[in-house]
Amino acid sequence: MCGIVGFTSESMQAAPVLLQGLAKLEYRGYDSAGLAVRDGSQDPVVVRAKGRLQVLEEKTNGGLSLPGSCGIGHTRWATHGEPSERNAHPHISEDLNVIGVHNGIIENFSELKEKLQRHDYHFYSETDTEVAIKLVDYYYKKYKVGPIDALAKSMVRIRGSYALAVMFRDFPGEIYVARKDSPMIVGVSSAGTFVASDVPAILQYTRSVYYMENLEMARLTPEQVTFYDLNGDVVEKETTQIEWDAESAEKGGYEHFMMKEIHEQPKAIQDTMNSVLSAEGRIDLSATGLTDEIVRDVSEITIVACGSAWHVGMAAQYVFEDLTRIPVRVELASEFRYRKPILKPDGLVIVISQSGETADSLAALREAKKLGVRTLGVINVLGSSIAREADHVFYTLAGPEIAVATTKAYSAQLIAMDLLAMHFAHVRGLLDDDALAAMIAELQSLPSKVEQLIENKERIQWFASKFSNARDVFFIGRGLDYAICLEGSLKMKEISYIHSEAYAAGELKHGTISLIEDGVLVIGVMTQNELYEKTVSNLVEVRSRGGYLAGITSYGHYEAEDTVQFTVYVPKTDPHFYATLAVVPLQLLGYYLAVARGLDVDKPRNLAKSVTVE
Ligand code: F6R
Repeated sequence: MCGIVGFTSESMQAAPVLLQGLAKLEYRGYDSAGLAVRDGSQDPVVVRAKGRLQVLEEKTNGGLSLPGSCGIGHTRWATHGEPSERNAHPHISEDLNVIGVHNGIIENFSELKEKLQRHDYHFYSETDTEVAIKLVDYYYKKYKVGPIDALAKSMVRIRGSYALAVMFRDFPGEIYVARKDSPMIVGVSSAGTFVASDVPAILQYTRSVYYMENLEMARLTPEQVTFYDLNGDVVEKETTQIEWDAESAEKGGYEHFMMKEIHEQPKAIQDTMNSVLSAEGRIDLSATGLTDEIVRDVSEITIVACGSAWHVGMAAQYVFEDLTRIPVRVELASEFRYRKPILKPDGLVIVISQSGETADSLAALREAKKLGVRTLGVINVLGSSIAREADHVFYTLAGPEIAVATTKAYSAQLIAMDLLAMHFAHVRGLLDDDALAAMIAELQSLPSKVEQLIENKERIQWFASKFSNARDVFFIGRGLDYAICLEGSLKMKEISYIHSEAYAAGELKHGTISLIEDGVLVIGVMTQNELYEKTVSNLVEVRSRGGYLAGITSYGHYEAEDTVQFTVYVPKTDPHFYATLAVVPLQLLGYYLAVARGLDVDKPRNLAKSVTVE
C-alpha cells in the first residue's frame, strides 16, 4: 500500500533522506507523493506531487531546496479520493498545528468528519487521513494535552487500520507515531532516528529497528525514541538487527512478491469487506451509488473481464444466480466487444478488473455504455480508466499487487462479488435479515480460515516437489468448483509453465479423457456437497486410466482418501464462499512448482501485469 518515511536529526538535512527512503518504497506502487520538512521551530514546508516520485524530486531539487532536519514523507496509493495533489499526503490542520501522513483505512471517517464539521473544521481533500489529522488537532486543543495523549484519544475514536507519523507545531524536531493493523517500524542510528512503514526505506542508514505493536505510540527526537501504550505509559522495547539484504527487505522477508501477496490475502479480504460493512453489520453500498431501487430493477447481469478476473466472474455467476435468481452471463471482454452483444436496457454490466486499465475490459465497458446499459466496475486501482468511466464503482482494497500472477486482488474481487450478490438478494427479498446476518458472520470468518490454509503451506510444498517434472495437469470440478479449477489451472501454467487445463468434471469424458495416461496428475475440487459424489465418480474414471489423483475438499469428507492419493482439506464454510478458501492451496501449488523448477515467479515470461493492448 502506501509508504511512510520520517527522519529527525540534529544536523543532517531531512528532505534528501526522505526522498531516498520513499524511492525504496516505490516498488509497493503509488500514485502521488509528498513531504513536510521543518527547519528548527519554523513552520513546516509541505510539497506534494501527483504521479512519479521524480516529480516531487524535481519540485524540491532532490530535497535540497527544503532546509530542515526533521520531516515526514509519503507515497500514496489512493483509497479515499482520486489520485491528485490535493489528496496526496502530508495532510495538515488549518493552522499547521498538526501535520501528518497515514497508511491504512479509517473505516468511520465519515462519522468523524461530521463530528469535526460540527466543531467548525473544514476539509480540503477527500481523504480519511485529513480527518485523522484534524481529529488529533481537535483533541490536542480541546483537552490541552501533549501529543501522546492527543494521539491516544484519537486512537480510541478511530475504527480501522492506521500507521500515522505526525509532527506538532509546538514540538519542533520531534515526530510522533501511532499504529494499529498497519505496519510501522522505528530505526535508530548515530545520525538520527527514523520511522518507516517498511524496512527498505531506512536500510541504507540503519539496521537497528524496533517493530511497533498494535495500539502503540512513539516519540522520536534526534537522539532517542520512547514508546508508549494507549494509557500513555512508557513501554520498554528491544531493537531487532535486520539481517536481510535490500532486495529481500522489499519483499518483507519473503522470497517472492507472490508469496508475500498470498500472505496478504486475509487483510485484502478483510479490508474489502470492512469498506462496505456498517457498524451495525449491514452491507452499505451507498458509496457505489447503487440505490435499492436500481438493485430491484436489474433484470439481468452480464459480467465482463479477462483472465483471473474472468474466473472471479465465473465463480460469481454461481453465487449470484443462486442467491438472487437474476440470470447472469459471464463474458470474456475480448469476445464481448466484437460479438454485437444483445443487452436489456434494465440490465447491469459488471466489469471486474484489478488494474482498471485492461484494454479489452475498458473497451467492453465502453461498448456497454454505448448500448445505454448501466455499468458497475469492480476495480482495485482508484482513479483508473474503468473506475472513472463506469457508472458505479465498487473498490476492492487489495492494495498494489506486484507479482504478475494475481492472488490477493483475485481474492478481494471474489469477496466484492459475494457482498454484491448478498446485497442484491437481500434488497430483492430473497435473503431475510437473519439469513443475511448469518452469511455476513460467515464471511467475516474467512480471513482467519485463509490464514489457517496458508499456515499449512509446507504440505503443498512437499506435494509440489513430487510433481515438478509434470508435463500435463488437469483440474476438474463442477459448479463453483469448476470456477475454482479455472483459476488453479491458470496459476499453475502461467508461472510454472506446466501445461494444465481446467475442465467441468462431467465434460472430461467427451474427449479430453483420452489424454489421461499413467501418472498424469488430475486435481479434483470437491467443495460443493451436492456435487461431491458426481466429481468423485469422474475422478474414479480417471484413476482407472492410470491418472494420479489429488483432491481438495472440506473437512469431514475424509472418505475422499479412498479415491484420491493426496487430499487437501479446507475449513467448512457457506457453500457460496468456498472459492476463497479452495484457491489458496492451488495458488501455493502453482507457486511451489515454479520455485521447484527454478523459474522467475514474480515475472513469468511473456506476461505483463497490466494488459493495455488488445
Ligand atoms: C493472472 C492475471 C491476469 C489478470 C488479467 C486481467 O494471474 O493476473 O489474468 O487477471 O490480465 O487483469 P485486470 O484484472 O487488471 O483487468
